[in-house]
Amino acid sequence: MESLAAILHDLGLLAHGGPLLLFAVMLPIAGRSKGLEPWTVDRCWRAWAPASGVALGALILGGLLRYHQLRGDFSWGVEQGQDLLFLVKHLIFLLFWVNYAYTEIWVAEPMRRLDSLAGPPGDLPAYMAARTRVIRHLWVSATAVVAMAVLACLPA
Ligand code: HEM
Repeated sequence: MESLAAILHDLGLLAHGGPLLLFAVMLPIAGRSKGLEPWTVDRCWRAWAPASGVALGALILGGLLRYHQLRGDFSWGVEQGQDLLFLVKHLIFLLFWVNYAYTEIWVAEPMRRLDSLAGPPGDLPAYMAARTRVIRHLWVSATAVVAMAVLACLPA
C-alpha cells in the first residue's frame, strides 16, 4: 500500500510537473521562433489543462496517503531537520496551489476569450499581452515545482 501511494504521488508529479516545465519553456520560445505559432502551443497547453488537474489531484492524494503511512497520523510540528524541510516544501506547495488555481481560472481567461480557435487571434496585440501574463505565472509554478523537488530530495 505504501508503494501504491508513492506511485500515485510520483506519477502525479510526473504528469503534472513534466508538461508544466515543458510548457513553461515552450510558450516563450513559441513567441520568438518562426514556424511555431504562439497560439498553437497555447492551445496545446489549454487542451492539457484537464489532465494536468487530474494529475495534481493524484499527486496530492498520493502525497497525503504516503505521509499518513510514513508517520502514522497527520501531526503538525517540527521535531527534526527532515520535518523542517517537509514543512518548507509544503508551504511552497500552498503558494504553488494558489498560483495554479489563479492562473487557470483568471490569468488564462483573457487569453481564452481573445482566441478565435482557428488561425491567429483577431486582436493579436491584446492576445500577446494576455499570454505574457500567463507565461509569467507558469514560470512561478515551474520554479516552485523545481524548488519542491529539490527540497524533497535533500538529505535531512
Ligand atoms: C508539486 C508538488 C510536489 C513535488 C514537486 C514533490 C516532490 C517530491 C519528491 C521529489 C519526493 C521524494 C522522492 C519520492 O520519494 O517520491 C517527495 C516525497 C514525498 N512527498 Fe512530495 N512533492 C509534491 C507535493 C506533495 C504533497 C502535496 C504532499 C502531501 C502531503 C507530498 C508528500 C510527500 C511525502 C509524504 C513524501 C515522502 C517523504 C519521505 O520520504 O519522508 N508531496 N515529494
